[in-house]
Amino acid sequence: MFLKVESLKKSYKTGEISTQVLKGVGMCLDRGEVGVILGPSGSGKSTLVNIIGGIDRCDSGRVMIEGADITQHKDNQLTDYRREQVGFVFQFYNLIPNLTVGENIEVVSNISKKPLDIDSVLKAVGMLDKKFRFPRELSGGEQQRVSIARAVIKNPKLLLCDEPTGALDFSTSREILKLLQQINKDFGTTILMITHNTAISALANRVYRMRSGEIVEETINESIMSAERIEW
Ligand SMILES: Nc1ncnc2c1ncn2[C@@H]1O[C@H](COP(=O)(O)OP(=O)(O)OP(=O)(O)O)[C@@H](O)[C@H]1O
Ligand SMILES: [Mg+2]
Repeated sequence: MFLKVESLKKSYKTGEISTQVLKGVGMCLDRGEVGVILGPSGSGKSTLVNIIGGIDRCDSGRVMIEGADITQHKDNQLTDYRREQVGFVFQFYNLIPNLTVGENIEVVSNISKKPLDIDSVLKAVGMLDKKFRFPRELSGGEQQRVSIARAVIKNPKLLLCDEPTGALDFSTSREILKLLQQINKDFGTTILMITHNTAISALANRVYRMRSGEIVEETINESIMSAERIEW
């Protein structure tokens, strides 16, 4: 297994009150697979994905990436892991407003060990002709393409997407999903995606349904649908 999460627990404290947000979560993904996490608001999806991506810490449990438990990493090891191996795509793109498209990607490329070529990645996401534009001069779908380019420029082993189509209309969402599917195929990137949209499950090898901090259902799809054919 490329990714294996075991008995993951996490609580948040607000004042005197501690709430358990993850109650012993287990899940896994093979290398090159696409995984989807479904579940209602507040069920712990982002918390889980943030721990897998090394931007948050758990209380107990394990997150094995290629056999190494990242929950045991020291802070500097975790930073290296996050920087070198993980790409993040969020619902609201998080681009730096006063940098151009090209510069937004260069920021990440500059701190990566073996970055891909910026122009090739921009071409792959269909944004090469807008390299010198600023984020405010782009549509939502275009901004999401740039944020995907920024996430894949370091050629991460693992791409984590938190509601990547949450702010987009249907046809733009389909284009973004096609792009993610293409990245998965071309680079062999393992992708874990959070969504509210059950139609997107058809694109995943493994589907995990969360409820109140627990995985309540795991589905393995024998074949996955082309994003071209998705409807909702
Ligand atoms: N930093 C924090 N401090 C305190 N509570 C938090 C913190 N982050 C998340 N929570 C709580 O943990 C629970 C799970 O949050 P999480 O963001 O993982 O949910 P989610 O499934 O991603 O929801 P959504 O679909 O709305 O994004 C929520 O009840 C939330 O209020
Ligand atoms: Mg969330």
